[in-house]
Formats: sequence, structure tokens, C-alpha cells
Amino acid sequence: MKKNSILLVLLLLAQLVSTAQNSNIKSSVKNVESKVDSILFMMTLEEKIGQLVQYNGSWDLTGPASEVGNKQKEEQLKKGLVGAMLNVLSVDATREAQKLVMENSRIKIPLMFGYDVIHGYKTIFPVPLGETASWDLEAMEKSARIAAVESVADGVNWTFSPMIDVSRDARWGRIMEGSGEDPYLTSLVAIAKVKGYQGDDLADSTTIAATAKHFAGYGFAEGGRDYNTVNIGENELHNMILPPFKAAANVGVATFMNSFNTIDGTPATGNKMLQRDILKGDWNWDGFVVSDWGSITEMIYHGFAKDKEQAAEIALKAGSDMDMEGGAYEAGLMDLVQEGKIDESLINEAVKRILRVKFKMGLFEDPYRYANPDLAKEISYEQHREVARDIAKKSIVLLKNENELLPIKPSVKNIAVIGPLADDKDSPIGNWRAQAEANSAVSVLEGIKAAAGDDVNITYAEGAKLGIGERSFLMPLKINETDRSGFSEAIEKAKNADLVLMALGEDAFQTGEGRSQAKIGLAGLQQELLQEIYKVNKNIVLVLINGRPMEITWAAEKMPAIVEAWQLGSESGHAIADVLFGKYNPSGKLPVSFPKAVGQEPLYYNQKSTGRPYSEEHVTFSTYTDVGKDPLYPFGYGLSYTTFEYGDLKLSSEEMNENGEITASISVTNSGDVEGKEVVQLYLQDLVASKARPVKELKGFKMIELAPGESKTVEFSIDEKMLEFYTANQKWEAEAGDFNVFIGGNSRDVKKAQFTLNK
Ligand code: BGC
Repeated sequence: MKKNSILLVLLLLAQLVSTAQNSNIKSSVKNVESKVDSILFMMTLEEKIGQLVQYNGSWDLTGPASEVGNKQKEEQLKKGLVGAMLNVLSVDATREAQKLVMENSRIKIPLMFGYDVIHGYKTIFPVPLGETASWDLEAMEKSARIAAVESVADGVNWTFSPMIDVSRDARWGRIMEGSGEDPYLTSLVAIAKVKGYQGDDLADSTTIAATAKHFAGYGFAEGGRDYNTVNIGENELHNMILPPFKAAANVGVATFMNSFNTIDGTPATGNKMLQRDILKGDWNWDGFVVSDWGSITEMIYHGFAKDKEQAAEIALKAGSDMDMEGGAYEAGLMDLVQEGKIDESLINEAVKRILRVKFKMGLFEDPYRYANPDLAKEISYEQHREVARDIAKKSIVLLKNENELLPIKPSVKNIAVIGPLADDKDSPIGNWRAQAEANSAVSVLEGIKAAAGDDVNITYAEGAKLGIGERSFLMPLKINETDRSGFSEAIEKAKNADLVLMALGEDAFQTGEGRSQAKIGLAGLQQELLQEIYKVNKNIVLVLINGRPMEITWAAEKMPAIVEAWQLGSESGHAIADVLFGKYNPSGKLPVSFPKAVGQEPLYYNQKSTGRPYSEEHVTFSTYTDVGKDPLYPFGYGLSYTTFEYGDLKLSSEEMNENGEITASISVTNSGDVEGKEVVQLYLQDLVASKARPVKELKGFKMIELAPGESKTVEFSIDEKMLEFYTANQKWEAEAGDFNVFIGGNSRDVKKAQFTLNK
């Protein structure tokens, strides 16, 4: 009898698996759910736990190496005891790994292959912070789409992106990976990125599953030090940190990744309130949560779990579904169930979430659909680079342009291109560069040479090296503090030039994971070099190549022109030349405040007012007595080669009724000589509320294009939903009272009006 029932189960199993693989599974919710249930029904506890395990493919470590050796991993794959891999690249390698599962395991549940595709795969787009400066959501969706296609062509079907951690601290190395200090803008970027990666149908073989990370609070690490403690209250969590995650969940992001940090003493990985109550409960999200690299086991170092078993118990109960390269679930879950410390239903729930995503990806239909050797042949990398150039030029922010030094005039016949980053073909690729070839970006020098006419003489000098020795993803960068041997050549070349282009900033490996810095100025000898060059030629355009806001106060005062060119990716130099020579009129706006001094960090425009906002008359007000409290360049700031004049802000009514709507309008005129684009920004302020509210919050923006002399009226509808925040009642709602409306070209220079919400 026992034997018979086993046979029966096996028969059922074979039937179900073949139906799952062969039939045309439509992604209807009901269908997916019943398939998930049938597979789950057939699984042993060991196989279920296996689905919760993710292994690294070994050669591209992004964290401490695990104890599980390659041979052992292979055996586990064959037994079907692995749910996903990361860092396994190429069609062949992913096929091989998938084959181990599909040809050997009992239930044959296909693997997912994850990778950090952060700003492109082979074709590299601007680092996310830079790309956000374009405020061009369509462009951001497009770059994600291209990244997805290139990833799939290399067997990758899951990206650990977008990183949507709001961050206000320029010291934090990972600020380059996100969209800056504003939750509204970050939410819109999150939506664009998820749509770009996942397309309309996750089962389409050119889409990849996306990950909203890091859930949550990672960008608020104390002192900007990576992995550090986060101490924030409920108000900040709900109003500032969670909105982009909610936006990603709403738009159907397939997975979430939790974060390394503790929040108010609880590691995010072991945080039930975040993962179970909010994400899976209140937001009703049906994907799965992957831990960050080893973050379940790291709860031991947090002093939150005594060993792997306890860490596994805490994490699973808190809603972490998959253990990335941590070995805790593998080591602990079986015993925990047998000891009765964990109910198997919790494991079932996690497995169901993972299977659901795999079904939606169409992996049960065809486990090899993302390992298509023909796809790479169909891709035009050349076309992708054109798109990369377009997005790169849109991401550039013009910070200063005295006496209209830019665009470069035809009368300029001698240009000296100087600086450690001037002919650097690697740093513009930035960190988290996926499979970009080293040194594959167009350098500033190459871009300038290609764009300048034959009658322009271009000279070049490095001046000083920035980094010395070998650079690598895991080791800190050594900075050149002493070698000035290139100074004299650079000074000589600058002396004889009509115009000097100084390319300074950061090496690609000064930002990114684990690369927090206590100093954010021009590292090494760059500042000294700049000052030496300035002594012999004052006609300098400073081109900044960097992944974080920098302290450039001296330069901001002395340089006639400054161009923020971030790390713009593969087409960097061409994009920079497009802007410098006026082929493209810059339209980028800062997604993050630039400080006057690092001591102002964290620095952000959407701050609370404090009980002592400001007075110039005496000291008992909230400011810094040396540099003041204002940024050097505010959030939303960016110049154009033309100028825009804003008229008066008009409201359709000074009263808004419950569920009502009013319109704010303003006329914007191009008062300069060339056509230009402007990002018109809408900010709101709730004047009196049950919780102190920010002095300003971005609530809308519109990109307009104006010919010289042309005016346009820009309108924004303001409805009650836009006035909502997480109130003292612990829910999102709008409170009656007065609101300020601000509209302008940045968060500082705005026109103002006021209305009242009646409820
Ligand atoms: C990072 C994640 C990344 C993961 C896998 C971790 O160290 O924090 O953002 O996705 O490694 O590479």
C-alpha cells in the first residue's frame, strides 16, 4: 500500500512536471497559483529548503566567500537543492548549471541567474545618480531595457537593480548607485527602471526580473559609513525611505533585496515589521525577498543571533525568503522544522513566492529561454552606444558658466586638456560596471578631439596621477599624494592655450560598495594641480567626473565654468564634447545637494525647519557659523546655455475641498538666444501638521522645450493625494490646513503661492 502510494505520487509528479514544462502556461494569476501549489505538493522538505538557497558562481565575489566549495555546490545543484545562482555568466555557463538541475534533480525546478546589472551590462550608461540628473524617465526606462537585452544575451535573467535607497550623505560610497535625496524622484525612477527591465511580460525572453533594493534604510547609514547603523524613526521611514519601495512593489517588481543595516536595533534582514507586515502585508506584494550577500548570517555579527541556526530562524520568521550566499538556511532550517521551532508552512510560503516568480518568468515552460545563443548576434551594440551617448549628454549638469565661456567659441583655436581623468578611459565607466570591458569608455580627450574642427589645436597633459597601483573591485584605491612630476608639462601646456579643460574628480573605485569617504574634495594632488594651472591661465572649464557630490568650494569660486559630468559610461567623452561644443544645450538638474563643506553632510533640501530656522544676526540659530547651512548647489539646480524667466505663480483657487483639485500655473520664458530645455519643478509644504513637515517637497516636474523668446504656461494639477503623508495617526492622509506651493527651476529659486485644504 505504502509502495503503491509512492508510485502514485511519482506518477502524478512526472505528469505535473511535464505539463508544467510543455503546456503553454499563460501567466494568469489562477493558473500560476495552481501550478505553484502542485509543484509544492510534490516537494520534500529538503527540496523546499533548497529553493531558498542562492549560491554564488564563485568568480565574481561581491562579498566574503562562503564555506561551500564548488564541488559541493555542483552536487547540491544536481539534487535540486539550489533555488538560484548569482554571478554565473555566459549562455554556456548558465546552460551548464541549468542542465545540472534539469537533467539530474527529481523535481526539475529551473534556476534563476542573478547579477548586479546596475547601469548597463556591456554598454554602460551613466551611474544611476548621474542618469537621474537627466530627469528623463523615458530615457531611464530605455537604458534599463537595453541592459536587460544585453544581460539575457549572456544568460542572466535577474538583476539586483534598481537600488532605490534615498540617500542624503555624499560620504556614502553607494550614493552613486541610487537616485539621490528625494523620495518622489526616486519613486519615479524606480517605476521606470522596473518597467525597463521587466517589460510588459516577465515571460518575454528579452526581459529580466528586477530587484528593489536595499529594503530598507541602507542609505541612511550613520556618518555615511557603509553598512553602519541606521537610527531613524517611523516618520522618516514612512515618508522618506519607503515610498520608492512601495512604488516598485505597485508596479510589480519581481523581487526585493533586504539590507545589511540595523534600523533602530533590528537588522533589516530580521525585520518582521518591514518584510512581513509592510511589504507582504499592507502592500500585498507577491514576489520574494532575497537577502543581501550573507546578511542572514551577518546577524550573528550584529549580536542579534547566536549562530547560523538562530539567524535562519529569525530571518525566515521575519520574511526573508532566499538566503544569498550565506549558508544559514542550508545549515539551519531542517533542524529548526524538526525541532518544531519553525512551522513548515513558513517554508512553504517562501517557496511559493519563489516558484511564482519562476512561473511568471516562463522558466517552467523553457528553463533555457534566457540562455539563447542567437540573441547576442541580433544585438546592435553600436545602436546601444548611440542611446548611451544620448542619455549621457542629457545627464550632464552645467553648474557654472561665467561670461558665457561655454559653449566653446569658434575663436578658440588652442585647447589644453589637462588632468588625471582627461584621458582616462576607465573611470567614466564607474563602479558596478557589470561586463563592460576595462578602459572601454570614450575619454574626454578622445571626445574633444573627435568634436573639435581640424583647425583647433588640442594638447594634453595628465598633470598628476589620481590612483596608483592596481585597482580592483574589492580593494581600497591608493591615491597619489606625492608624485608631481607631471605638473610642469601641464603648466606649460596650459600657458599656451586659449582655453583649458581640466578633467578632475574621482576614480571609478572611489565610489560604490564599501567606498565611503570622510573627505569628498578633489583627492590627491588634483586641487593643487588646479591651483597651479589657474595661476597661469584663468580660462578654465572644470569638467567633473565623479560618482558623488563633491566639496568643490574653491573651484566654484574661482573657475569661470564647471560642468558636472558624473561617470557617464561608455560614451562619456562624446557626450561631454556634445555639451562643451554646444551640440547639446545642457538640461540636467542635480538630484542631490552639493555641500560647501563635507561637515554639512548629511545635506538635503527636504529638511524640517527646526525651531530656530535662521538668523544672520546672532548665533543661537540652526546653522554652521563657518560655512552656513545652505548648499553650494541646491537640489534641482542646473544651468543652460540659455536663461529662463519665471512669471508669477497662479492658483486656480486658494481653497481646496476634500478630494478636490486645484491648478497651479506659471509662465516660463526663454530669455536667452538659443533653444533650451528646462525642468520646471513643483514643490509643496504643509505649514502646520500633526508631525513637523519638510520645508519643501518635490511633488511634480515637467520638462519643457523653448525657442529663444518663446513662453509657455506650465500647469500642475494639485490634488488631495499629493498632500498626504504618514501622519501622527500612523497612516497616509492629508490634513486640513494651509499649504505653500513653490515652482521654479531648482529647489532654491522658486515662486510661491498659498492655498488652504478644507476638510
Ligand atoms: C550588495 C548588493 C549586491 C550583492 C550581490 C552585496 O554586497 O550589497 O547590492 O546586489 O552584493 O552582488
